[in-house]
Amino acid sequence: MDMDTLKAECLACTRCELCTTRTNVVFGQGVPDAEVLFVGEGPGQSEDEQGLPFVGRSGQLLDKYLFAIDLDREKNCYIANIVKCRPPQNRDPLPAESEACMPWLREQFRLIQPKIVVCLGRVAAQRMIRQDFSVTREHGQIINKGGILFMGTFHPAALLRQPQNHPYQQHQQVILLVAALDHVMQTVPLARMDDFRTGLLTYIETQDQALCRRIDESGQLSDEDRETILKLSREFLTRFQTEAAEKSGE
Ligand code: URA
Ligand code: SF4
Repeated sequence: MDMDTLKAECLACTRCELCTTRTNVVFGQGVPDAEVLFVGEGPGQSEDEQGLPFVGRSGQLLDKYLFAIDLDREKNCYIANIVKCRPPQNRDPLPAESEACMPWLREQFRLIQPKIVVCLGRVAAQRMIRQDFSVTREHGQIINKGGILFMGTFHPAALLRQPQNHPYQQHQQVILLVAALDHVMQTVPLARMDDFRTGLLTYIETQDQALCRRIDESGQLSDEDRETILKLSREFLTRFQTEAAEKSGE
Protein backbone atom coordinates (compact mmCIF):
# COMPACT_ATOMS: atom_id res chain seq x y z
CA MET A 1 0.00 0.00 0.00
CA ASP A 2 1.36 3.45 -0.86
CA MET A 3 0.65 6.77 0.86
CA ASP A 4 -1.86 7.97 -1.73
CA THR A 5 -3.94 4.80 -1.44
CA LEU A 6 -3.77 4.98 2.35
CA LYS A 7 -4.88 8.60 2.26
CA ALA A 8 -7.78 7.86 -0.06
CA GLU A 9 -9.00 5.15 2.31
CA CYS A 10 -8.54 7.34 5.35
CA LEU A 11 -10.52 10.20 3.82
CA ALA A 12 -13.55 7.89 3.73
CA CYS A 13 -13.07 6.58 7.28
CA THR A 14 -16.08 6.10 9.55
CA ARG A 15 -14.40 4.03 12.26
CA CYS A 16 -15.41 6.40 15.06
CA GLU A 17 -18.04 8.97 15.94
CA LEU A 18 -15.83 11.91 14.99
CA CYS A 19 -16.69 11.22 11.36
CA THR A 20 -20.18 12.64 11.98
CA THR A 21 -18.96 16.10 13.03
CA ARG A 22 -15.91 16.62 10.85
CA THR A 23 -15.71 18.90 7.81
CA ASN A 24 -12.52 17.31 6.47
CA VAL A 25 -10.35 14.38 7.46
CA VAL A 26 -6.87 15.71 8.25
CA PHE A 27 -4.72 12.84 7.05
CA GLY A 28 -1.30 14.48 7.39
CA GLN A 29 1.16 16.45 5.33
CA GLY A 30 4.79 16.09 4.39
CA VAL A 31 7.21 14.07 2.31
CA PRO A 32 6.96 10.26 2.23
CA ASP A 33 10.66 9.77 3.02
CA ALA A 34 10.74 12.15 6.01
CA GLU A 35 13.34 11.48 8.70
CA VAL A 36 11.34 13.30 11.35
CA LEU A 37 7.66 12.60 11.97
CA PHE A 38 5.77 15.13 14.11
CA VAL A 39 2.60 13.97 15.81
CA GLY A 40 -0.01 16.31 17.29
CA GLU A 41 -3.24 15.40 19.02
CA GLY A 42 -5.93 16.21 16.53
CA PRO A 43 -7.22 18.84 14.12
CA GLY A 44 -8.58 22.14 15.44
CA GLN A 45 -11.02 24.40 13.64
CA SER A 46 -8.66 25.73 10.94
CA GLU A 47 -7.31 22.24 10.27
CA ASP A 48 -10.86 20.83 10.01
CA GLU A 49 -11.74 23.57 7.53
CA GLN A 50 -8.63 23.20 5.39
CA GLY A 51 -7.96 19.46 5.71
CA LEU A 52 -4.31 20.11 6.63
CA PRO A 53 -2.48 19.65 9.95
CA PHE A 54 -1.20 22.57 12.02
CA VAL A 55 -2.36 25.45 9.85
CA GLY A 56 -3.87 27.67 12.58
CA ARG A 57 -1.99 29.79 15.11
CA SER A 58 -0.19 26.79 16.64
CA GLY A 59 0.84 25.75 13.18
CA GLN A 60 2.42 29.10 12.46
CA LEU A 61 4.56 28.76 15.59
CA LEU A 62 5.41 25.17 14.68
CA ASP A 63 6.51 26.24 11.21
CA LYS A 64 8.81 28.78 12.82
CA TYR A 65 10.45 26.09 14.92
CA LEU A 66 10.75 23.82 11.92
CA PHE A 67 12.37 26.58 9.91
CA ALA A 68 14.85 27.11 12.75
CA ILE A 69 16.07 23.54 12.50
CA ASP A 70 16.08 23.29 8.73
CA LEU A 71 12.86 21.34 8.44
CA ASP A 72 10.01 22.15 6.14
CA ARG A 73 6.76 20.24 5.67
CA GLU A 74 7.05 20.67 1.92
CA LYS A 75 10.59 19.35 1.78
CA ASN A 76 11.84 17.07 4.52
CA CYS A 77 9.47 16.19 7.35
CA TYR A 78 5.97 14.86 7.95
CA ILE A 79 3.21 16.12 10.24
CA ALA A 80 0.31 13.99 11.43
CA ASN A 81 -2.08 13.66 14.36
CA ILE A 82 -3.29 10.96 16.75
CA VAL A 83 -6.88 11.47 15.53
CA LYS A 84 -7.55 12.60 11.98
CA CYS A 85 -10.94 14.22 12.60
CA ARG A 86 -11.60 17.23 14.83
CA PRO A 87 -13.00 16.50 18.28
CA PRO A 88 -15.96 18.84 18.94
CA GLN A 89 -14.96 22.00 20.84
CA ASN A 90 -11.35 20.80 20.57
CA ARG A 91 -11.76 18.45 23.54
CA ASP A 92 -9.14 15.73 24.06
CA PRO A 93 -9.78 12.70 21.87
CA LEU A 94 -11.60 9.93 23.80
CA PRO A 95 -9.62 6.72 24.32
CA ALA A 96 -11.98 4.89 21.96
CA GLU A 97 -11.40 7.52 19.27
CA SER A 98 -7.58 7.36 19.54
CA GLU A 99 -7.76 3.58 19.55
CA ALA A 100 -9.92 3.57 16.41
CA CYS A 101 -7.67 6.05 14.63
CA MET A 102 -4.20 4.76 15.56
CA PRO A 103 -4.02 2.17 12.76
CA TRP A 104 -3.86 5.07 10.25
CA LEU A 105 -0.89 6.59 12.04
CA ARG A 106 0.81 3.21 12.42
CA GLU A 107 0.49 2.70 8.68
CA GLN A 108 1.87 6.20 8.00
CA PHE A 109 4.79 5.39 10.30
CA ARG A 110 5.41 2.10 8.51
CA LEU A 111 5.49 3.78 5.09
CA ILE A 112 7.62 6.75 6.15
CA GLN A 113 10.05 4.88 8.42
CA PRO A 114 11.22 8.07 10.13
CA LYS A 115 14.39 8.20 12.22
CA ILE A 116 12.53 9.87 15.06
CA VAL A 117 8.96 10.61 16.11
CA VAL A 118 8.50 13.98 17.82
CA CYS A 119 5.31 14.11 19.90
CA LEU A 120 3.82 17.57 20.22
CA GLY A 121 2.14 17.88 23.61
CA ARG A 122 0.83 15.62 26.34
CA VAL A 123 -1.89 13.79 24.39
CA ALA A 124 0.47 12.60 21.65
CA ALA A 125 3.37 11.89 24.03
CA GLN A 126 1.25 9.85 26.42
CA ARG A 127 -0.29 7.89 23.58
CA MET A 128 2.99 7.26 21.71
CA ILE A 129 5.67 7.16 24.41
CA ARG A 130 4.29 6.29 27.87
CA GLN A 131 0.98 6.79 29.58
CA ASP A 132 2.57 8.81 32.38
CA PHE A 133 4.93 10.85 30.20
CA SER A 134 5.39 14.37 31.60
CA VAL A 135 6.09 17.00 28.98
CA THR A 136 7.18 19.46 31.68
CA ARG A 137 9.79 17.11 33.11
CA GLU A 138 10.83 15.07 30.10
CA HIS A 139 10.58 17.39 27.11
CA GLY A 140 13.49 17.13 24.72
CA GLN A 141 14.74 13.74 25.93
CA ILE A 142 15.36 11.16 23.25
CA ILE A 143 13.68 7.90 24.19
CA ASN A 144 14.36 4.53 22.62
CA LYS A 145 11.25 2.42 22.62
CA GLY A 146 11.73 -0.95 20.99
CA GLY A 147 14.40 0.43 18.66
CA ILE A 148 12.30 3.42 17.60
CA LEU A 149 13.38 6.88 18.74
CA PHE A 150 10.82 9.24 20.25
CA MET A 151 10.89 12.69 21.71
CA GLY A 152 8.10 14.55 23.51
CA THR A 153 7.96 18.30 23.57
CA PHE A 154 5.59 21.19 24.24
CA HIS A 155 2.55 21.59 22.06
CA PRO A 156 2.86 24.94 20.28
CA ALA A 157 -0.63 25.84 21.56
CA ALA A 158 0.60 25.41 25.15
CA LEU A 159 3.39 27.87 24.48
CA LEU A 160 0.90 30.33 23.01
CA ARG A 161 -1.48 29.90 25.98
CA GLN A 162 1.21 30.37 28.62
CA PRO A 163 3.20 33.38 27.55
CA GLN A 164 5.22 33.16 30.77
CA ASN A 165 6.60 29.79 29.61
CA HIS A 166 6.97 30.96 26.09
CA PRO A 167 9.86 33.39 26.53
CA TYR A 168 11.78 31.04 28.78
CA GLN A 169 11.31 27.99 26.65
CA GLN A 170 11.40 29.40 23.19
CA HIS A 171 15.13 29.29 22.55
CA GLN A 172 15.52 26.01 24.43
CA GLN A 173 12.79 24.48 22.32
CA VAL A 174 14.52 25.56 19.16
CA ILE A 175 17.93 24.36 20.29
CA LEU A 176 16.68 21.03 21.61
CA LEU A 177 14.89 20.26 18.41
CA VAL A 178 18.23 20.57 16.68
CA ALA A 179 19.14 17.35 18.47
CA ALA A 180 16.57 15.60 16.35
CA LEU A 181 18.43 16.48 13.20
CA ASP A 182 19.88 13.74 11.18
CA HIS A 183 23.55 14.60 11.57
CA VAL A 184 23.19 14.42 15.32
CA MET A 185 21.11 11.26 15.32
CA GLN A 186 23.67 9.48 13.24
CA THR A 187 26.72 10.49 15.22
CA VAL A 188 25.78 10.73 18.90
CA PRO A 189 25.17 7.36 20.53
CA LEU A 190 21.78 7.20 22.20
CA ALA A 191 23.33 6.49 25.60
CA ARG A 192 25.06 9.86 25.38
CA MET A 193 22.11 11.82 24.02
CA ASP A 194 21.14 13.32 27.40
CA ASP A 195 24.68 14.63 27.90
CA PHE A 196 24.66 15.97 24.40
CA ARG A 197 21.38 17.83 24.93
CA THR A 198 22.40 19.42 28.19
CA GLY A 199 25.83 20.31 26.86
CA LEU A 200 24.44 21.78 23.67
CA LEU A 201 22.02 24.02 25.54
CA THR A 202 24.74 25.30 27.85
CA TYR A 203 27.15 25.77 24.97
CA ILE A 204 24.78 27.87 22.91
CA GLU A 205 23.60 29.82 25.96
CA THR A 206 27.18 30.74 26.86
CA GLN A 207 28.43 31.31 23.32
CA ASP A 208 25.61 33.60 22.30
CA GLN A 209 23.44 34.99 25.09
CA ALA A 210 22.26 37.78 22.85
CA LEU A 211 20.87 35.27 20.39
CA CYS A 212 18.92 33.43 23.11
CA ARG A 213 17.56 36.74 24.39
CA ARG A 214 16.52 37.81 20.90
CA ILE A 215 14.57 34.61 20.32
CA ASP A 216 12.94 34.81 23.75
CA GLU A 217 11.95 38.43 23.48
CA SER A 218 10.79 38.63 19.90
CA GLY A 219 9.60 35.09 19.32
CA GLN A 220 11.18 35.55 15.90
CA LEU A 221 14.06 33.88 14.24
CA SER A 222 16.03 35.77 11.67
CA ASP A 223 17.84 33.84 8.94
CA GLU A 224 21.06 34.90 10.54
CA ASP A 225 20.17 33.57 14.01
CA ARG A 226 19.10 30.31 12.48
CA GLU A 227 22.43 29.95 10.71
CA THR A 228 24.19 30.72 13.99
CA ILE A 229 22.25 28.01 15.85
CA LEU A 230 23.13 25.47 13.19
CA LYS A 231 26.77 26.55 13.16
CA LEU A 232 27.08 26.39 16.97
CA SER A 233 25.36 23.00 17.01
CA ARG A 234 27.87 21.63 14.54
CA GLU A 235 30.72 23.16 16.49
CA PHE A 236 29.48 21.63 19.72
CA LEU A 237 29.00 18.25 18.04
CA THR A 238 32.66 18.26 16.97
CA ARG A 239 33.85 19.14 20.49
CA PHE A 240 31.57 16.54 22.00
CA GLN A 241 32.98 13.86 19.72
CA THR A 242 36.57 14.94 20.22
CA GLU A 243 36.13 14.79 24.00
CA ALA A 244 34.53 11.37 23.75
CA ALA A 245 37.40 10.11 21.56
CA GLU A 246 40.00 11.49 23.97
CA LYS A 247 38.28 9.89 26.92
CA SER A 248 38.11 6.51 25.27
CA GLY A 249 41.76 6.79 24.24
CA GLU A 250 42.98 7.50 27.78
N1 URA B 1 -3.21 20.94 17.19
C1 URA B 1 -2.92 19.66 16.95
O1 URA B 1 -2.64 18.89 17.85
N2 URA B 1 -2.93 19.25 15.68
C2 URA B 1 -3.20 20.07 14.66
O2 URA B 1 -3.16 19.61 13.52
C3 URA B 1 -3.49 21.41 14.93
C4 URA B 1 -3.49 21.84 16.20
FE1 SF4 C 1 -11.70 7.51 11.27
FE2 SF4 C 1 -9.86 8.60 12.78
FE3 SF4 C 1 -11.74 10.12 11.75
FE4 SF4 C 1 -12.35 8.42 13.69
S1 SF4 C 1 -10.97 10.18 13.85
S2 SF4 C 1 -13.47 8.72 11.79
S3 SF4 C 1 -10.99 6.72 13.24
S4 SF4 C 1 -10.17 9.00 10.63
